[in-house]
Amino acid sequence: MFYSDELIEEVRTRNPIVDVIGSYVHLQKKGANYFGLCPFHNEKSPSFSVSPARGMYHCFGCGVGGNVITFVMEYENYSFQEAMKMLADRAGITLPEQEYTAEMRRDRDTRSQLLAVHKEAATFYFRMLRTEQGKPGLTYLRRRGVSDEMIRAFGLGYAGTHPSALYRYLKEQGFPDQQLRDSGLFRFSEKGVTDRFWNRVMFPIMDANSRVIAFGGRVMGDGEPKYLNSPETKIFDKSRNLYGLNIARKSRKGFFLICEGYMDVIAMHQAGFKNAVASLGTAFTVQHGMIMKRYTDEVILCYDNDGAGRKAALRAIPILREAGLRVKVLTMEPWKDPDEFIKNLGAEEFQRRIDQAKNSFLFEISVLRQDYDFNDPEDKSRFFNSAAERLAEFTDEIERNSYTEAIAVTYGIDYQVLRGKVNLLGNSRTSMPSRETPGDPKRASGRRERDSGSRAAEKLVLTVLSERPEFAQGLEISPEDFSDPLMKDLSEILLRENRSGTVNPGAILNRYIDSENYSEVAALMSSGLSDSLSEQELSQAFSEAVKRIRRESVDRRIAAAASPQELMELLKEKQKLS
Ligand code: GTP
Ligand code: MN
Repeated sequence: MFYSDELIEEVRTRNPIVDVIGSYVHLQKKGANYFGLCPFHNEKSPSFSVSPARGMYHCFGCGVGGNVITFVMEYENYSFQEAMKMLADRAGITLPEQEYTAEMRRDRDTRSQLLAVHKEAATFYFRMLRTEQGKPGLTYLRRRGVSDEMIRAFGLGYAGTHPSALYRYLKEQGFPDQQLRDSGLFRFSEKGVTDRFWNRVMFPIMDANSRVIAFGGRVMGDGEPKYLNSPETKIFDKSRNLYGLNIARKSRKGFFLICEGYMDVIAMHQAGFKNAVASLGTAFTVQHGMIMKRYTDEVILCYDNDGAGRKAALRAIPILREAGLRVKVLTMEPWKDPDEFIKNLGAEEFQRRIDQAKNSFLFEISVLRQDYDFNDPEDKSRFFNSAAERLAEFTDEIERNSYTEAIAVTYGIDYQVLRGKVNLLGNSRTSMPSRETPGDPKRASGRRERDSGSRAAEKLVLTVLSERPEFAQGLEISPEDFSDPLMKDLSEILLRENRSGTVNPGAILNRYIDSENYSEVAALMSSGLSDSLSEQELSQAFSEAVKRIRRESVDRRIAAAASPQELMELLKEKQKLS
């Protein structure tokens, strides 16, 4: 690790956890703790708690937890170093300036190395666009009507026809092969190294903080594949990334426009709709939704006006709803996509379509309608039955009635008749799940891995020791009794701190931040177990877990006993335990 333990601890303590998290999440004090809506999963009632005394946060809904440094890492998608920098700045602490060569600085951590590679690569492509060699790229963009301002804002570039121009350039800059290999921008083979992208117009993909994390490259004209994208790397996770988010998140329009491709986003921004983002050919995920939910409550889908676009919209709608977003759908009729629409009908007309965007439920019904032939009375009646089924799923009566009315009017059926159908279904299915998914329990439990019984016992003991130091009194257990290496390590610290009388979970977590284990350690130390059990339940669970750990520890030592004497001792110990 780069910083001393003292420095990490100073950065942590000089950034009060309630102040920092409170600047992202609305927190309310309840007793000794603060509560708010969890920023890492969608929920309607607060299960995200922050404990200033322990220096920890924890969500009872989805199980995330940690200290102030890990919060910034998770929320901002920062590396440990980046989070340290931000929190040090915030508290007016100067981190030691590293007096290292450019090369050693790049060694600091893989993520920052990869970011450095991408930054240089983006600069290289961007400059190339303005050279003699880059003419085809610039001509292509001009022909498609992309303004100079958009070329700058999106950092568009050009990869020339030389198959390893970028590689040679980055080697000259001193980047070692290993970093270039990890970047996904090259193909390494026995014959040598070639660039992944050549003879393409380059679209840098940026994260929310405008750092280049990947590229998409488009052929100029026809050719396969039309777009070539970077593979997933340590810094590029397709299921979390949205093209244009770095700009859209500052647009403050109150909603996001979601479209399919690079060119759509750029065309929309150029026309003044700077709140447009795209998921770039990958299916929409709940993570995409949660990330947008940080900035807005409403999204409008502007998917292509064709079968594939409608299908993509139908798939995205429930996912976006699950993230807690209001969803509307806009029609581009008679044009195919936002790019073509704006070129042909202009920004004002597009704005009108935004104003008329259909609520996603009515959109779903309008797609459903296409499966039925209204000239056939039976088919028509089947359609209304299906629509009634969907309507019956609304638990809110006002909402249900207003949608029922909208559908009655749109599709020409008497309101009372449709309402009758809906109520009939509603009554026969009183326990229908709500349309609004309040945090998906499947996902929440999926996060917590299934522990074996003994691992669970080890965790429980450590949780109690971190929450209730007094349980350590007279406790007969030693770190060697723990079988899991991580638990052994943690038990050593907790037992030592308990003996000295000060347990500081937030500080203990510092040790694990830079490792893979931090979320597990964090969850373990912030589970709030002692609040959810009665005193008696807690001490019973604790003593049973301790017994189990010791029993299994003896069994392990018995199996490994080297001499008959040792075996005798151990068997005696085992007898005492049972
Ligand atoms: P233009 O044809 O240049 O207007 O692009 P577009 O942005 O309108 O693309 P389109 O609607 O065809 O596709 C939407 C998005 O899907 C693109 O922006 C890409 O991110 C992705 N995509 C399209 N074609 C390909 C492909 O051949 N390979 C990959 N990996 N992605 C593609
Ligand atoms: Mn297009």
